[in-house]
Amino acid sequence: MNTASLARPEIASLSPYAAAAQDRLTVRLNANEIPWSPSAEPDECLNRYPLVRPWALRDRLAEIHRVSAQQLLVTRGTSEAIDLLVRVFCRAGQDNIVITPPTFGMYKVYADIQGAGLCESPLRAEQDFRFDIAELLRVPDERSKLIIICSPNNPTGNSMQLADLETLIAARQGRSLIVIDEAYIEFSTGRSAITLMERYENLAVLRTLSKAHGLAAARLGCVLAQPAVIRLLDSIMAPYSIATAIANRAMTALRDENLAVAADRIAQLVAERQRLQTRLSASVSVEKVWASDANFLLVRFRNLPLTRSLLEDRRILIRDVSAVPGLQNCARITVGTRSENDLLLDTINGKSTNHA
Ligand SMILES: Cc1ncc(COP(=O)(O)O)c(C=O)c1O
Repeated sequence: MNTASLARPEIASLSPYAAAAQDRLTVRLNANEIPWSPSAEPDECLNRYPLVRPWALRDRLAEIHRVSAQQLLVTRGTSEAIDLLVRVFCRAGQDNIVITPPTFGMYKVYADIQGAGLCESPLRAEQDFRFDIAELLRVPDERSKLIIICSPNNPTGNSMQLADLETLIAARQGRSLIVIDEAYIEFSTGRSAITLMERYENLAVLRTLSKAHGLAAARLGCVLAQPAVIRLLDSIMAPYSIATAIANRAMTALRDENLAVAADRIAQLVAERQRLQTRLSASVSVEKVWASDANFLLVRFRNLPLTRSLLEDRRILIRDVSAVPGLQNCARITVGTRSENDLLLDTINGKSTNHA
């Protein structure tokens, strides 16, 4: 059975919206735009709808990820990709998704919005949140359409081994689409699951420009999957949803020379992550720091409310995740610049040095 046939039947038979033709050489009287751009930005053609899809950006991302253009859909962040997947594959009140909490909170939110069920295979702090494939494989049932693995995982920072992922994909062929959210993979030394796409068709990989590429405000990401799955996701996505200026800005960011700059910054952040981990581990206020493949660290404090109030006095924000089951007294700390990290460390250690 091919993976596209796991989709909701009403989506598989949907007639997508037919957008107006967009040939630049024509007199455009077919899309109810007005013929003038706002005077402040005469060159930006703001009066015209953007391309139905940002084709050049799609092609560039496909080139970077070494897949065919038909295997990639540009989305408004990874968030939209998750939403599209849940809506395409899960029938409300019938199908479910499998997740491995503690993990990114939006998977549950999109499942709830769609009326899809949630099956959980929890990761345990005492096992350093290791993915246990044998346990994970016991969780899905015949209605588990999506198994979403966040790797590196937010907020725990650890990754699933590619061999384990392959076992999971192989075991669920014809039954579930395995979705790997690689939002943080650029900060890791691990290999991307994209390398498995040639061999397995029940795999979708999510990537974002919000993290390592520094384009969070642009709201851009993409999903990589087999063309039949991409066509289904595309069929429910709104036309014209990526603004022209944003697509152009991303094209600039993805030029080879700018990718080299991004790679330098990633290396800097990874070095800072290592330094921060070492320094935090040595702090008397800290009980444990978990190793991380991402641009954040999960930290268990001895007295989280006290640490938070010290940090808040200096207007330093960290993400308190202590209400998440299994993460008592824990916070997720994003790796910042060296001076931001120093300020954080001094504050946690009760020092008043001003690095600003
Ligand atoms: C694991 C994970 N996936 C996806 C996202 C959302 O990314 P985007 O900005 O591409 O929507 C986040 C954001 O924090 C995340 O942590």
